[in-house]
Amino acid sequence: MQYKRMPIEVESPEEMGYATIKYNLAESSVRDIYFKDLKLNLDDVFICYGEHRGKIELRNEIVKDEINLTSDDVLVCPSAATALFIVSTTLLNDNDHLIVLRPNYATNIETPRAINCEISFVDLSFENNFQFDIEQIKNAVKSTTKLISITSPHNPTGVVFKDELIKEIISFAEEKNIHVLVDETYRYLNFQTDLVPYYANQSSNVISVCSLSKAFGVPGIRIGWLINKNEKLMHDFLAAKEQIIICNSVIDEEIAHHILKNKNTFLEPTHQLISTNFSIIKNWIENEQTFLEWTEPTCGVVCFPRIKNEFKIDLPKFYKILYEKYATFVGAGHWFEQDDCFMRIGFGYPTNEELHQGLKNITLALQESLIA
Ligand SMILES: Cc1ncc(COP(=O)(O)O)c(C=O)c1O
Repeated sequence: MQYKRMPIEVESPEEMGYATIKYNLAESSVRDIYFKDLKLNLDDVFICYGEHRGKIELRNEIVKDEINLTSDDVLVCPSAATALFIVSTTLLNDNDHLIVLRPNYATNIETPRAINCEISFVDLSFENNFQFDIEQIKNAVKSTTKLISITSPHNPTGVVFKDELIKEIISFAEEKNIHVLVDETYRYLNFQTDLVPYYANQSSNVISVCSLSKAFGVPGIRIGWLINKNEKLMHDFLAAKEQIIICNSVIDEEIAHHILKNKNTFLEPTHQLISTNFSIIKNWIENEQTFLEWTEPTCGVVCFPRIKNEFKIDLPKFYKILYEKYATFVGAGHWFEQDDCFMRIGFGYPTNEELHQGLKNITLALQESLIA
């Protein structure tokens, strides 16, 4: 494995220093919370090694509303990132071929690269509203294809791929005996659509991945999970997890269980805040500024607008002014292997006021970076 640090991590707000950023529009999650907000007493938690698959009550809670899934189909991992790492390193080696959407969350591309497998990208374009054509995926399949990797709801665009389309990919993959990874890390941020069942319900070829990081404001506890109905594959995933970490932090699992047991109490205010912030950013993009155009996001808390072609902007200057003069931070296009005329704006993390001001600052920084 050849590991490389990813720009999205090197330049992440936590690495830059939260104290240097007043208007944090770079996050792909809702606002982080404090432990005291949980109203949880952990005095009686026994700090032993935990169940290797994850605390049974937590696994039950994860699949409580699912029809076709049981706790046996769940492997709790220390974060979605780890779950993705386990999936890639278990299913792929350097003779294998992977089909993956781009742009994407960097790990979904970078871990397969570290494995040195062959990769075919399905590039999503602004012109096509970041939707993909299923023929692009079908045409990319080779005899060595082991995995098709999809992220929906999508990061960095906030687009949700059509349910029929994902199901079509799943049946196609079943015919060809290929696995499908559906990274569903943003699923609970469905503030304007219904929550769809995990795609792992559909077929034992599908691995769904999710975590608590994005919707519940607790990325610091590092709890995520993968779901799959194939017993042999789950055995292999467990073996990988046991080599990496044996079990999760039992404290983290206790917190995760508490949150999922009370998930609506957490999600209701969150969805309200996101709805308001979504109206703020929609109004800004569509009525208050002229530089940017977007594909409207349908789920999650990020969007991926781009600077219109007619505006010539000094891009390094723009990002520098935005950060250094206006203490405002967004995710530059290169975090996602895209041109820096794209930027990911997160609208779930800032307060209403911070979002208003952060967006104004983007307009100001763009004006000040115009090339005459
Ligand atoms: C699509 C996607 N998957 C997984 C992750 C990793 O999440 P976690 O904090 O659970 O590791 C992220 C984080 O940005 C993400 O955007």
